[in-house]
Amino acid sequence: MDPARLNINDQAVEFPVLVGTEKEVGFDILKLRGSTGAITLDPGFANTGSCESTITYIDGEAGILRYRGFSIEDLATHSTFVDVAYLLINGQLPTRPLFDKFNQDLTHHSLLHEDMKKFFEGYPQNAPPMSVLSTIVSSLSAFYPGSEKGEDFDVNITRLLAKLKTIAAFSYKKSIGQPYVYPRNDLGYAADFLHMMFAVPSEPYEPNDLLVKTLDMLLILHADHEQNCSTSTVRMVGSSGADLFTSISAGISALSGPLHGGANTAVIEMLEMIRADGGDFSKYVNKAKDKNDPFRLMGFGHRVYKNFDPRARVIKKIADEVLGQLGINDPLLDLAKQLERIALEDEYFVDRGLYPNVDFYSGILYRAMGIPTNMFTVMFALGRLPGWIAQWVEMKNDPATRIYRPRQIYMGENLRPYVQIGHRTK
Ligand code: CMC
Repeated sequence: MDPARLNINDQAVEFPVLVGTEKEVGFDILKLRGSTGAITLDPGFANTGSCESTITYIDGEAGILRYRGFSIEDLATHSTFVDVAYLLINGQLPTRPLFDKFNQDLTHHSLLHEDMKKFFEGYPQNAPPMSVLSTIVSSLSAFYPGSEKGEDFDVNITRLLAKLKTIAAFSYKKSIGQPYVYPRNDLGYAADFLHMMFAVPSEPYEPNDLLVKTLDMLLILHADHEQNCSTSTVRMVGSSGADLFTSISAGISALSGPLHGGANTAVIEMLEMIRADGGDFSKYVNKAKDKNDPFRLMGFGHRVYKNFDPRARVIKKIADEVLGQLGINDPLLDLAKQLERIALEDEYFVDRGLYPNVDFYSGILYRAMGIPTNMFTVMFALGRLPGWIAQWVEMKNDPATRIYRPRQIYMGENLRPYVQIGHRTK
């Protein structure tokens, strides 16, 4: 493709054009500042590509999401979360022996070092589980310092994948004052997580197959989403040379915000608020449209998807099926559907391409599974972990990686003489 041309201060500059495997076009402005002194300004990086990647493809206009070339619908229907984690990190779906080995490794590494239990004890009972998750993950680098490549590093990847579900379940047990439940080696990933969440010493617990399947599917749907806020954070922190655990801990913190992973909690809180307020949707649709009102319809809108979020479609369908099979009649599901219908007919939402995103219906499924609202974003983190790891590894192995260091346009004071104001105390 011809180079892109830009005229700036009567100077013509050319930039090489890059075309991706799905025909996405970008031009490489690496030399812009060196040759013109100018930079690009793109708040929120809405038009900025930070890297080349072979992991996830999204077409926001067509509602397409693929991991390593496989459609999200196929993976959600036919795969397991462990397959998808392997796929994201290694680039291929595992053969049976590779799957068995990976699965066994994940089981083998799922125990936490006993000393780590002391960390949990130090938190107040009402500590947000996302804070607990990010700090305990960060502390893993003190327990498992290691190289950035080779066998030791591969073990650290497995450790992180295996232990995050234990850390997540322990943070829940801590929050309700119950004894920690240790992982069971005879259970698969999702089943073991449910066991650690819901087993109590006095009663036998066997995870329900439907819940296991649903959880597995939810984790798959969240497993990667190219250069979103938390993934970019993971890459950014890693680009400074920080280790994997520290980088992922930063990603967990980024995910916790209500505009990102925290939206799944915010959706349920919003639906409960609307219900408590008499169920008047139009009042809240109007509030969301009012530019003087900070209220937004949580679970609506996306930076990339402008027609629909394919993950939300799958989740909405599954929510109906699973709640039906469990015999649960959750009034919030009906409320969510009515709110969606009203918003989708409204010019404001239609004009801006605002549709339900992955977080709109996921909370309703988590509720049906007995997972408390303050754990929803932790569930998102569990699902996103293989994506973060794959992206971190890709960043490390890419010879084009440099430390992430954006520029700015300075709008502050020009140089001014120093004038002492007030009295110096020393
Ligand atoms: N309710 C009402 N108006 C909205 C909403 C919403 N949920 N989302 C966007 N808008 C409006 C916004 O006010 C703006 O209007 P205008 O052009 O008149 O100024 C326009 O739509 C574009 O919005 P934006 O904030 O510039 O879009 P963005 O790409 O910067 O933000 C978003 C994307 C997801 C943060 C935003 O849509 C939002 O805040 N949604 C609610 C929170 C949410 O559900 N987040 C989860 C995202 S999906 C999970 C994940 O991957 O993190």
